[in-house]
Amino acid sequence: MAETMRAAVYERYGPARDVLRVTEIERPEPGPGDVRVRLRVSAVNPTDWRVRSGSQAGGDPPFPYLVPNQDGAGEIDAVGDGVDPGRVGTRAWVWFAAHGRQHGSAAQWVCLPERQAVPLPEAASLDLGASLGIPALTAHHCLFRDGGLDGGTVLVAGGAGAVGHFAIELARRAGARVIATVSSDEKGDLARAAGAHTIVNYRGEDAADAIRAAAPEGVDRIVEVAPAANAALDAEVIAPNGVVAIYAADGELTTPVRPLMVRNVALRFVLVYNIAAEWLARAVDEVSAAAAAGDLSELPAHRFPLDDIAGAHEAVEGGAVGKVLVDIP
Ligand SMILES: NC(=O)c1ccc[n+]([C@@H]2O[C@H](COP(=O)([O-])OP(=O)(O)OC[C@H]3O[C@@H](n4cnc5c(N)ncnc54)[C@H](OP(=O)(O)O)[C@@H]3O)[C@@H](O)[C@H]2O)c1
Repeated sequence: MAETMRAAVYERYGPARDVLRVTEIERPEPGPGDVRVRLRVSAVNPTDWRVRSGSQAGGDPPFPYLVPNQDGAGEIDAVGDGVDPGRVGTRAWVWFAAHGRQHGSAAQWVCLPERQAVPLPEAASLDLGASLGIPALTAHHCLFRDGGLDGGTVLVAGGAGAVGHFAIELARRAGARVIATVSSDEKGDLARAAGAHTIVNYRGEDAADAIRAAAPEGVDRIVEVAPAANAALDAEVIAPNGVVAIYAADGELTTPVRPLMVRNVALRFVLVYNIAAEWLARAVDEVSAAAAAGDLSELPAHRFPLDDIAGAHEAVEGGAVGKVLVDIP
């Protein structure tokens, strides 16, 4: 009889508590080119609850059931044909586990193409490893797709968010000066701890003045989580030849054209799932190097047992500050 494992599953899209359950399913076996990871921590991102809710797909799920969650960390315990057996017993962080696939990271094991299970540097905890995938790869692409940053200035909108957190740390590592916007002192403390040089409350009346005081020539990159809400602010503070990298959708973007055109500003839209392969590989390598160097840190964790997978999804849906992690038994 096949071995089984504990996993969170859902058979239809809908609210977390209505559709998610934890059960025994068959343990997967690695195919050619795959590794199998014994997961210890699974992380929840906004994409995980959005997919589960059905707001992104509609209709029925593409498999009889789905295991949620893209990101996680654990140890490789088996490899398929063509994979170095030396990887067995090593720690790994996984990315895109559930993307176009049946089995995500909210389970005891997952099988993935070996490049999607990246060696976890000794300096990095399993919690950090599980937190990297979607947020750090997104942050990397937003920051570096349009060139290096050394000596430049970066504005990270929402510096206490998961993407914002790694954007601050990766920008600092690249030698940039970092300004982060937040909406509270608590979030300001998080952004400062990540390394932001200047914290600005974006709800304050003088947000643009405060940013311009810190960057009189303007900011070279904006890593933007709220493009519609911040369009006027971004247009005020972006430097000539600057890039606004937009990674979240908050409605219709209406922006003043002339000030952006005069400054030769570029708007770059980023969806992490559709990053070109060469850039994704670069992001994976550089995020790993940053973790190995100790340049990336954990956000405050909100922990849930696998049995409370619904609570974990609800926490992210409710805007938890920090990182929602699921402990895998
Ligand atoms: N395109 C992609 O590939 C991609 C990848 C990852 C994430 N995302 C999306 O990006 C969003 C953030 O993801 P996350 O994991 O970083 O979520 P998160 O940890 O919840 O962070 C979201 C942050 O955005 C901040 N924020 C909201 N409105 C803001 C505004 N007007 N100005 C500045 N900051 C603002 C929030 O702070 P306040 O509450 O203080 O406003 C919060 O800190 C989600 O919608 C997610 O789906 C997209």
